[in-house]
Amino acid sequence: MKHFTSVNHIDDLDELLLLAKQIKSNPYANKTAGENKTLGLLFFNPSLRTRLSTQKAAANLGMNCITMNLNNEGWSLEFEDGAVMDGDKAEHIKEAAQVISQYCDIIAIRSFPSLTDKEKDEEEHVINAFVQYASVPVISLEGATEHPLQAVADILTIQEYKTTQKPKVVLTWAPHPKALPHAVPNSFIKMMQLANVDFVITHPEGYELNPEVTKNSTVTHNQEEAFKDADFIYAKNWSNYNDYGQILSQDAAWMVTPEKMALTKQAKFMHCLPVRRNQVVSDAVLDGADSIVISQANNRTYAAQAVLTKILAHESQ
Ligand code: CP
Repeated sequence: MKHFTSVNHIDDLDELLLLAKQIKSNPYANKTAGENKTLGLLFFNPSLRTRLSTQKAAANLGMNCITMNLNNEGWSLEFEDGAVMDGDKAEHIKEAAQVISQYCDIIAIRSFPSLTDKEKDEEEHVINAFVQYASVPVISLEGATEHPLQAVADILTIQEYKTTQKPKVVLTWAPHPKALPHAVPNSFIKMMQLANVDFVITHPEGYELNPEVTKNSTVTHNQEEAFKDADFIYAKNWSNYNDYGQILSQDAAWMVTPEKMALTKQAKFMHCLPVRRNQVVSDAVLDGADSIVISQANNRTYAAQAVLTKILAHESQ
């Protein structure tokens, strides 16, 4: 594994999950793998889980970590080729990425979508500019279109909690007051397409995701039908994809409630967090015995550590 900016970069999911499970059972077994190596964590957007779990994963491997909030601590970056830099952008990505590569052996970046410029967001232009100009491996800490480290933690969690060989997993849209990106659902869908699960997506009409991502998955607008006999309910809001970045509905009827969970096969409740209580999911579900969101967040460390281990091994070849 050279870079990890998409679920598509996983060449062998079973091998990666086995590695993550081994790491979880003994996180310090490989504590010199990253000795004298530095991980640079660059954030254009806020984070709690991704920042802390990736730092912890790096520490478990003996890596140094440098973390920077590029949006307010660094120079404002220019990404356009040939730009006349007479405005507010002080540094070009060409120099910035090469300079950061002098200090870091792996660069990890969080850069959310604009949700206004669909073409640029779909190009994943910030993360791909780092891939283009950095001389070291690049990891996505959530880009405009994907959150692959989250998806590795998600499937690891499903594997730990499943009670049948091929569980039914439902990704349900849920209401939210703000326009949210498509990265988490996109990566989760891609991951479910790789996994041995019976997968259903449910959302209100008009909330279709990128058809290139959903093309192999079952989609229904009937949430209650989707919930029937489910083993896992994964709730997530996303803004409109076709009417890009718009909120068409905040339909409270789509909130995950105990009544809806009663339709399932005592499904486990999942969410990537942070989650808006009593908007996305009711307190009773989130605080209930079948909520596994904290275990899911814990698995972020082992997912990140597995990916870092694979990249360090690739670089030492
Ligand atoms: N799930 C997730 O990525 O959380 P943070 O935004 O807090 O990193």
